[in-house]
Amino acid sequence: MKKVENILREHRYQRSRIIQILQDIHVQYNYLPAKVLKYVSKRLKVPLSKIYSLATFYTAFSLKPRGKHLITVCMGTACHVRGATAMLSEFERRLCIKHGETTRDLNYTLETVNCLGCCAIGPIIVYDGKYIGEFKLKDVTKVLQGKL
Ligand code: FES
Repeated sequence: MKKVENILREHRYQRSRIIQILQDIHVQYNYLPAKVLKYVSKRLKVPLSKIYSLATFYTAFSLKPRGKHLITVCMGTACHVRGATAMLSEFERRLCIKHGETTRDLNYTLETVNCLGCCAIGPIIVYDGKYIGEFKLKDVTKVLQGKL
């Protein structure tokens, strides 16, 4: 727990900084491991139930291991009518997972979102933070090959 201890120290063990602490832990592990949350609860004397309520309230936090790469497919109305469902299905088929899941090798996590606020360039996906608009079915292969 050295990494976690360093994070707690950086935040001077301040309970009021619990969200920032969870953010830093999330960056470190790419999710919030249960054993780490228990440790934080003990060290900061914050009830574990409170930590879990924060961890589940914010969608940026994940309690399950996430992949090295994050693919988010917009399923909002504008993207849906332009073929987002077929693209999502193709990602699911190629990765052998459903949306909301992570591949066994922890390479990819596939998620959906309801609107990214840039409907004019839909259908759109986000790959590791990069927005890719006017996405086409054939682009699925390029994404998985790291060519987009
Ligand atoms: S519906 Fe996809 S960006 Fe708005």
